Amino acid sequence: MDTYEKIIGLAKRRGFLWNSFELYGGTAGFYDYGPLGATMKRRIEDIWRDIYVIGEGFYEIETPTIGIEPVFVASGHVHGFSDPMTVCSNCDSAFRADHLIKGIVEVPDTLSAPEIKQLIDEHGIKCPQCGGVGTFGEVFDFNLMFKTTIGPGTQRMGYLRPETAQGMFINFDRLFRFYREKLPFGVTQIGKAYRNEISPRQGVIRLREFTQAEAEIFINPRDKNHPKFSMVRNAVLRCYPASHQQNDSEGGGDSDAAGDDRAAGVIELTAGEAVDRAIVAHEFLAYHLVLTNHFLVRAGVDPARLRFRQHQPDEMAHYAVDCWDAEVLTDRFGWVEVVGIADRTDYDLSSHANHSQHDLSVVLEYDTPKQVERIVIKPDMSMIGPLYKDKAGKVLAALKNLKEEDLNGDEISIKVDGEEIRIARDVVGYETVIEEVRGEDVIPHVIEPSFGIDRIIYAVLEHSFAEEIVDKETRSVLRLPAEVAPVQVAVLPLLTREELIDPSIKIVDMLRRSGILVSYDDAGTIGRRYRRNDEIGTPFSVTIDYDTLDDDTVTIRDRDSMLQIRVQVRELAEKVHAMMRSGFDSP
Ligand code: ATP
Ligand code: GLY
Repeated sequence: MDTYEKIIGLAKRRGFLWNSFELYGGTAGFYDYGPLGATMKRRIEDIWRDIYVIGEGFYEIETPTIGIEPVFVASGHVHGFSDPMTVCSNCDSAFRADHLIKGIVEVPDTLSAPEIKQLIDEHGIKCPQCGGVGTFGEVFDFNLMFKTTIGPGTQRMGYLRPETAQGMFINFDRLFRFYREKLPFGVTQIGKAYRNEISPRQGVIRLREFTQAEAEIFINPRDKNHPKFSMVRNAVLRCYPASHQQNDSEGGGDSDAAGDDRAAGVIELTAGEAVDRAIVAHEFLAYHLVLTNHFLVRAGVDPARLRFRQHQPDEMAHYAVDCWDAEVLTDRFGWVEVVGIADRTDYDLSSHANHSQHDLSVVLEYDTPKQVERIVIKPDMSMIGPLYKDKAGKVLAALKNLKEEDLNGDEISIKVDGEEIRIARDVVGYETVIEEVRGEDVIPHVIEPSFGIDRIIYAVLEHSFAEEIVDKETRSVLRLPAEVAPVQVAVLPLLTREELIDPSIKIVDMLRRSGILVSYDDAGTIGRRYRRNDEIGTPFSVTIDYDTLDDDTVTIRDRDSMLQIRVQVRELAEKVHAMMRSGFDSP
């Protein structure tokens, strides 16, 4: 069994993750979160909210998971959101065509479908399902969005959203007003996204329905310095810049073989150095790399198995100018992207403005109004009226829109109702005036950290998993951070006796009323009950024994060190809360 099998086995057995629709045979790409999984997921999302919504002040919004077609035409998803696919004619299995040749051939992200097909044929790639050679059909682009129709009939196309981001972009003008018309501001959304992945054979790493937590931060395109950058300047990041990946065979992309990442060109440097040395494009991006690092480590990702990999220029999404993926090292899949952090520029807002015919630019007010020279065009109406008669109004309007450089030469060219009209230069005069300008029109740029919560949950489970020999037996333990562990305290009477069960139930009730999620367990030996709780990551176990009846004290056992301390029952809730914040209070 590799680590992945152990984790998925544990997750299924103990109620973290279950294959969806199992009763009916299941289908790839869907997982249910069981009682412990759903609780852990909520806790991780709440840490994210604590950092982004409360810490950064980026309010959360909630928009529909179904979008109408024009939204995804403008976003580029209808025409561009596809993966290359091929089907084996022997066994009918579908595959990501680029994944079939990955690892066998160096594949740039820009290969066309026929080029991929040619490589599959040249290298005699075997069907991973049936072993057939030469059985793959044509490679074609498969759009990953789930399509539906809205309302009865088939008139109105809709799509399940492939990212939560678009719901935030299309509310930009309302959000701008909400934030009192000042940049920068951020907005967040946590919710389901859907992608009809071609062959999701990587468990929870590649799902067809998954949860994203995204922040869209709208910034002034002329100022990508972050107002709080000095607070994170010295934070250390493990970066894998694009230039380090080019000569590195085990380099980029998720799902690569694990290896010595130092040899592979990962460098540790501060956020300040990353910006000063132009490794990260600007402060805003670097600030969000630091915040991402902080979130992932707080959620339980091992910092030694975390790196930030910069996209290669040919790998970058169509909208991005600089993009970094937070990647985690996993035993089976190698480095896996869990977060994408991109400077999306004005791509989305400009495109929605064009497609919706709605101006999404904002006026950035100068600190003090500027005096600027402006050319005022002065057409000679005594000549234009008689010359152009009923078109004179339109000619005049076109002339007023001219710029100084349009006035060079003997003739001026304008368009009226699609027809070019050439006008003698001396019919149009101009004069220069000084005007006070209070600000300029800009389309904001967007910085986007986009988190895949399901992949993060898997990484946290794998990185916190350990097996160790205790009393000649293997103990499996999830060393989850206390704020992530689904069950926070297990209450265990030492023996299944009424005189110990009664005070235990009272303690359960007291702890629950203080806001702690408690499990009560009186079945089996105390050793087995400790192991059961270690395996699900319960950080503390409280044991009620015969001394409790005499002196009103109980023991608290620490999951990681297995040490125990004795505390008064009246201080128990406060003590547990303190230890969840700052760790076990060793004896
Ligand atoms: P990949 O290359 O692995 O398909 P991506 O580059 O398409 O990922 P993004 O489009 O950047 O991913 O999506 C942002 C985040 O959403 C990713 O970092 C990942 O954590 C998550 N994500 C994307 N696709 C899936 C999926 N099919 N299943 C689970 N999580 C996903
Ligand atoms: N919002 C980034 C992505 O999902 O592609």
